[in-house]
Order: sequence, then C-alpha cells, then structure tokens
Amino acid sequence: MKNIVILISGAGSNMAAIVQAAHQQRWSERLGIQISAVISNKAQASGLAWLQSCSEFADIQTEVLEHTQFASREDFDQALLKRIDVHAPHLVVLAGFMRILSPTFVAHYAGRLINIHPSLLPAFTGLNTHQRAIDAGCKFAGATVHQVTPELDHGHILAQAVVPVLAQDTAADLAARVLTQEHLIYPKAVLDFFKLEEASRQAM
Ligand code: GRF
Repeated sequence: MKNIVILISGAGSNMAAIVQAAHQQRWSERLGIQISAVISNKAQASGLAWLQSCSEFADIQTEVLEHTQFASREDFDQALLKRIDVHAPHLVVLAGFMRILSPTFVAHYAGRLINIHPSLLPAFTGLNTHQRAIDAGCKFAGATVHQVTPELDHGHILAQAVVPVLAQDTAADLAARVLTQEHLIYPKAVLDFFKLEEASRQAM
C-alpha cells in the first residue's frame, strides 16, 4: 500500500474532498493507495470531527499534535515529522494546514509534500489572497496545487483552477467560488501524483 498523510488546521473541506474521492473511486482496491491518517495542529479543527463522524472512513486514523505545546517551530516540526513517519507516507498532503514549515521538515519530504493555495500562483502568495485579488482589480482568480519547497507558496505547479471575479464580489464570495474548484483539482492532483510516479517507474 502507498500511504497518504493529510495535515489540516480547520474545516478540512479539501481533506474531505480527497477522502471522498479516494472512497468513491476505490483508490485502495484499484491502485493500492490509502489515506492512513489525518493530523491536525488544532484539536478543535472541525475537519477532524467530520472525519470521526463518518463510519465509512473509520480506518483513517485521526490525530492531534498541538503546536502550542512546543517551545519552537523546529521542536514542533520534529515531533510532527515523527508522527507522520509512523505511517511511512508516500505523499504528505497539506490541506488548509496553517503553519509555516521549517526547511528541515520540507527537505525531509522533498518531492512528496504538496499544498493547495487559494490564488493563481505565482500571484498572491501568503494570506488574504481573495481580498488582494479583488483590490488589485483581477478579473480572474483561482487556486493552485504545488510542490512544497522551503520558499512559501513557490514550488512547482501541479494543477490550477480559474474562476471569474465578479463585480460585486466580497472576499467571502470569491473564496467560496474558489473553494468549490479546489475540491475538484486537489483530489485529481493527488491521483496524478501517483500516476506520474507509476509512469516514470515503468519507463525505467
Ligand atoms: C483553502 O482555501 C486552501 O486553499 C487554503 O486554506 C483553505 C482551507 O480550507 N490553504 P479547508 O480547511 O480545506 O476547508
């Protein structure tokens, strides 16, 4: 089995989209890919409660590792890395995980750590992407799935979705429109990651 570990901090709707796609498309039976664990740095993350309420996903472990319990970013990242590696992951998926990760952590998962960011990268790295896109007068906005590298929101782009910015949009309106697209591109990008890996393995 090829294991996936997903990291969340909040609602976890992207995590839910990936978990549901894996279930509906029978990734485990067809492709030998399974989601082993979902880890949150916040005990209150509603995504965890949602997952625990779904009996069909009972085989996915839910875990909490509170960053507030650690003296430094490096200490937390080391503890997180140990937790993740218990699952021997092929891929680590950041899904609304609101932590900047240390270079050591990122290097440890080089090539197998991906994130979704709610903008059309390389535009609008960082926070408040939707308001910034509106303020800049953008006619289009979107989301990007990318490899994670030490520089925030800068890794190789794996997938993007584009949505229009409408005249009266608030940041919340735009965020909701973008999020529906995130739920489509993220599961597909995860699957594509494994397909690409399999294709390059066969080419060797
Ligand atoms: C998404 O917009 C994602 O792009 C960003 O944080 C939000 C997380 O939403 N990184 P959810 O927790 O997946 O619902």
